[in-house]
Amino acid sequence: MKQRENWGSRIGFIMAAAGSAVGLGNIWRFPYMAGDNGGGAFILIYLGFVFVIGLSVMIAEFAIGRRTGLAAVGAYKSYSDRWTFAGVIGVLSAFFIMGFYPVVGGWSLAYVFKSLTGLMSDAGAIGDAFGGFIGNPVEPLGWMLVFLVFNILIVAKGIAGGIEKAARILMPTLLVLLAFLTLRSVTLPGASAGLEFIFKPDFSEVSGQTLLAALGQAFFSLSLGMGCMITYGSYLSKKETLPNNALIVTALDVGVAILAGVAIFPALFSFGMEPTAGPGLVFVVVPIIFAEMGAIGPLFGAVFFIALTVAALTSSVSLLEVVVAYLIDQRGMERKKSVYSAGGIMIVTGILSSLSLGVMSGVTIFGVGFFDFFDILTDKIFLAIGGMLLAIFAGWVVKKEDLYDELTNSGEKEFGLFNIWYNLIKYVIPIAVAVVAVMGITDIEQ
Ligand code: PHE
Repeated sequence: MKQRENWGSRIGFIMAAAGSAVGLGNIWRFPYMAGDNGGGAFILIYLGFVFVIGLSVMIAEFAIGRRTGLAAVGAYKSYSDRWTFAGVIGVLSAFFIMGFYPVVGGWSLAYVFKSLTGLMSDAGAIGDAFGGFIGNPVEPLGWMLVFLVFNILIVAKGIAGGIEKAARILMPTLLVLLAFLTLRSVTLPGASAGLEFIFKPDFSEVSGQTLLAALGQAFFSLSLGMGCMITYGSYLSKKETLPNNALIVTALDVGVAILAGVAIFPALFSFGMEPTAGPGLVFVVVPIIFAEMGAIGPLFGAVFFIALTVAALTSSVSLLEVVVAYLIDQRGMERKKSVYSAGGIMIVTGILSSLSLGVMSGVTIFGVGFFDFFDILTDKIFLAIGGMLLAIFAGWVVKKEDLYDELTNSGEKEFGLFNIWYNLIKYVIPIAVAVVAVMGITDIEQ
């Protein structure tokens, strides 16, 4: 049997897993979700979900991936054929997320160049420029294709050689860039209003929808509920301790989201803008903020969008890898061939969702265009269901001893919180996710 690929080093694994977690979810989505949902209260609820539900599910995904040495579908299937569907939901989620993610990745790439070529010369025109750009039938498609080609090239190179190498260089770059931007933002006059907005919770506006949005954001941002961390865990050496690694990845992910919030809101309030700009927040408000900074603005802008593109890329490669690992493990395909076929489908869905923001805006599924459809379907439905199924599977199908064995490296390492974790996974998380999902969905329908 051919030896399964492995991560080249521990730090490489952490970088790759954190690279998967830290992405558009943290820098593009988190600030606008927080802005739309009232700021501090949303952030607190989100943090609660991340550390109670997300961290536990991540530990379970790592454990199941490494135990079975298989990606999502194979891992479920190796315990019971009846559970194959849960893995398949994960592969489908990867396709759906990749239906819109490369579009935003492409925008980000485009904005690196736009920042340097006059976008910020007229702050008043930036909003219209964004609307015009994403609605254009050709330009964003080109950028999305470039972004997807990067993904295909990296994943075709395999685990240690491609994804890990890229993440090891790109992730630290991102952290440095963000820290730099955050410092700039909090030292602007009037920045404290922005800090108050994110750190002073107001629970009066919290609804079922807020809860579901926070839960979906937690799963999305940590790359959970669709087998991604099962797949990454399956490449991890038996020597590593899983709970520690999960905690580091979670802390990094939260850290970057909060950094992004602290980079954006103080500046936003300092310039007297509204926090509820929606998905355009990063692409409209941030360039305006930079434009107001004078001559240095375009450079700051370019740096910001390089960071965003980098973050997006290390996440999208993990999504592509979920599909590729499935094709390799379950369909016996070669890596390169799997990458090209999965990538090919993603090019088609990417084109559909990019066009849905312009010339194809009339074509809708359940009342929304392709872009929103892919986004809402994964964030609000698939990931929550996937996370709940994973918890039920770990709690009720996998043997408790197996999990204990995996999480303590056969008793060699301590995991003092094992029983608490196990009860969370077995009882609390399935019920909590179901309650939040029902509350959120009934709330939307009203
Ligand atoms: N976590 C990534 C982000 O925040 C998105 C992602 C979701 C990646 C699910 C892999 C799996 O951008």
